Amino acid sequence: MSRLLFIAAHPLTAAASKTLTVAEVFLDAYRERHGADAVTALNLFAETIPALTGATFDAWKKIKTGAAPTDLPPAEQQEMARHNELLTQFLAHDQYVFANPLWNFFLPPVAKQYLDLLCVSGKTFRYTPNGPVGLLPEKKVLHIQSAGGVYDRGAGAVNADFAAAYLRHLMKFFGITDFSGIYIDGGDAFPQRRDAIVAEAKEAARELAAKF
Ligand SMILES: Cc1cc2nc3c(=O)[nH]c(=O)nc-3n(C[C@H](O)[C@H](O)[C@H](O)COP(=O)(O)O)c2cc1C
Repeated sequence: MSRLLFIAAHPLTAAASKTLTVAEVFLDAYRERHGADAVTALNLFAETIPALTGATFDAWKKIKTGAAPTDLPPAEQQEMARHNELLTQFLAHDQYVFANPLWNFFLPPVAKQYLDLLCVSGKTFRYTPNGPVGLLPEKKVLHIQSAGGVYDRGAGAVNADFAAAYLRHLMKFFGITDFSGIYIDGGDAFPQRRDAIVAEAKEAARELAAKF
């Protein structure tokens, strides 16, 4: 049995979001095809996803210099426990589906906050004398994202979709090279094509769900 983590970084519901509409189609088709697999949903806008702050660095410094987690003030203990919970949940899954709108050429901030908590040496990557090595080579990722404009994400392209480029890069840093994307591009730039763009993305989602 495979475990899939659906990481949604969108403040709205599927009724108001092309990203979440297509993600729902993917998840429905995935459940139909892989009934035995467990699917967990993590809605980043509905959860506590701590940002890295001065208090975080204080807590890390104390732990690094030998403090037990229980020596930390209650707020720092709570934050460290939440980091640990989110990282443990991520590591316990085999497949990840990230779903977000493109905002100002990047991910919604809460998605960056979440990804920051996963970058832990010894858990998702480690440093070696020959450079960093990703520790999750067996996992796979699907990125579902809607953007108002159209982006060329091909190799060598001048790509202003920093969200997709960043997520792909970070997952590669974790060792994950099995990375697919469904990009629902151009609905704002070409409103007359919006329905066709979403329909194409839904079709791609159904196809991918069969082999994911
Ligand atoms: C705050 C904000 C920032 C946006 N920034 C971009 C952008 O940088 N590039 C782009 O192509 N579209 C941008 N858009 C448009 C959305 O990406 C687009 O409407 C997308 O289809 C939204 O996805 P959704 O239907 O899942 O909400 C932005 C929209 C908002 C609300």
